[in-house]
Amino acid sequence: TYTIDAAMPKAQISPNMYGIFFEDINLAADGGVYAELVKNRSFEFGTPLMGWKEQQTGGASGKLEVIDRTAERPENAHYLRVKADAATGSYGLANEGFRGMGITKGEVYNFTITARKTTAAFITMTVELRDAKGNVIGKGSLTPTSAAWQKYKVNFTASATEDKASLYVLLKGKGTLEMDMVSLFPQHTWKQRPGGLRADLVQKIADMKPGFLRFPGGCIVEGRDLANRYQWKKSIGAIDKRETLINRWNTEFTQRSTPDYYQSFGLGFMEYFMTAEDIGATPLPILNCGMACQFNTGQLVPVDQLDPYIQDALDLIEFANGGADTKWGKLRTDLGHPKPFNLKLLGVGNEQWGEQYIERWKLFTKAIKAKYPYVSIVSSVGPFPEGEEFTRLDKFFRSQHADLLDEHYYKSPKWFLDNAKRYDNYDRSGPKIFAGEYAAHSTLTGDALKKNNWESALAEAAFMTGLERNADVVRMASYAPLFAHVDGWQWAPDLIWFDNLRSYATPNYYVQQLYSLNKGSYTVPLLVDGKAVAGQDSCYASAVVDKATKELIIKFVNAGDKPQPVTFNISGAKAFAAAGTVVTLTSGKRDEYNSLDKPKAIVPVKSSIAVKGKAISLTVAPSTFKVIKLKM
Ligand code: AHR
Repeated sequence: TYTIDAAMPKAQISPNMYGIFFEDINLAADGGVYAELVKNRSFEFGTPLMGWKEQQTGGASGKLEVIDRTAERPENAHYLRVKADAATGSYGLANEGFRGMGITKGEVYNFTITARKTTAAFITMTVELRDAKGNVIGKGSLTPTSAAWQKYKVNFTASATEDKASLYVLLKGKGTLEMDMVSLFPQHTWKQRPGGLRADLVQKIADMKPGFLRFPGGCIVEGRDLANRYQWKKSIGAIDKRETLINRWNTEFTQRSTPDYYQSFGLGFMEYFMTAEDIGATPLPILNCGMACQFNTGQLVPVDQLDPYIQDALDLIEFANGGADTKWGKLRTDLGHPKPFNLKLLGVGNEQWGEQYIERWKLFTKAIKAKYPYVSIVSSVGPFPEGEEFTRLDKFFRSQHADLLDEHYYKSPKWFLDNAKRYDNYDRSGPKIFAGEYAAHSTLTGDALKKNNWESALAEAAFMTGLERNADVVRMASYAPLFAHVDGWQWAPDLIWFDNLRSYATPNYYVQQLYSLNKGSYTVPLLVDGKAVAGQDSCYASAVVDKATKELIIKFVNAGDKPQPVTFNISGAKAFAAAGTVVTLTSGKRDEYNSLDKPKAIVPVKSSIAVKGKAISLTVAPSTFKVIKLKM
């Protein structure tokens, strides 16, 4: 028997409490949510023709030459010269896409290319989409005419659905055409933005109604070395000027003999800010603090040379919030967004630690707070929130009255259950907590696609009762990583999995969504024998009141193997509607998981519950998470 006092507000819940961690890992951006279908569209990968193959038919021949123009265009150093001898047949090249291209029957595809014709002879270009067997499933043509660089476009409709299509760019005629920025997008994207994002994937994040969007990572913020760190200024403006960079996760690409993970930055800071705005999430950029990934080279910018890095942070705040009368605010306006993005949160470094972090953090913080005191700084306490180094950092940040500490935990389900109490005795006077990256790593299977099983989701649901009960100190939380391509991942588990055409939400996703959609306004005490419910009889619980909907919302997890008959006696409310709503997420098997073919193996199911005066009674099945909502 549990007691709830609905008239005793304990902690205000942050409106940003449950959010999204985004990183370009597991093909999340290029090959994922960024809807570009052409891999290595501007020939800037380590091997400039990676992803491309020469093609010739009907007796035609020719030559492909990669031209280096580093001195003239360092940010887009290569283009391709195609010398075609195709009086009959055709000559050109084909692109394999990111693990193939996902093409949908009836969808319109926008092909664009920047080209110049360096010989007078007439040349035509045919663009074909072919399925895995080589059948043409979409076709367009265009005639390049100009001797100067010019953008050409052609749209065509696909006649079949295929998840492993390729794009053929074929020339007819005898002459030379130079090309760059060879691109193919579906017309239908998120908000129908040309060159935009995959709508099904953004919709899945929008459906969580996240309180914040953290971007662009993760370790890619840091880079393996400083030359390959994420630089936000290089990720905005014309896409042919955004410098391609090797992805920090490239060498983890175990499935490929030739690692091919690069960042085109087609999804850059402007797109992140706009997506956050679209889905009503507070933007939370994380910036490099003059340190490369400490798990790799650990390169450091000398402290006396940190100014450009700090300036990047100050300029970013001006870019997000400044008026058109400021340098960076004007750039945002010129890019089509006069309205400020209302940036209030900024991360200084990702998952950094040690004295080297502390001395850099001090300089960043001093400069940011001097100019923008209203910006809350997210500070790193290193990779795992335990041990001497964690305690040292935690102590240091407390002494500095830091705003938010970014704790990361990738641990076993048992750790998550044990740590439902983690924040119960935290010092309330110090910094607030951002549980910035976490996921329960199941011990039941080694198979990546099965790691998002019910064991892991249930443990996270139990742990999150602890985050919620301690909402006065835990102000934000996000599961990580967010996305993974089933044919191109290097880290599992992940919240949402996809292939080139489909996507599915994991049970872990539904746990996050249930918390986010039911976060309420403030917590109220839910007790058993006068104590918080954090593991007694393998049960975990929290309760909140939503002021707007006038609901009492109870989250209850039975993580054990026995059914639990429970009664909630509620005081502090005048009366309740006769029936409440119950949302149940459960599985009889802890190793059950969702998949592309069975996306609904574990999904929330709605039912109702009778309210007897001010009490409800129910039996909660083993391994079950319930959200119970009562109208007051
Ligand atoms: O989420 C995957 C990685 O885990 C992140 O890039 C990093 O911050 C953490 O180590």
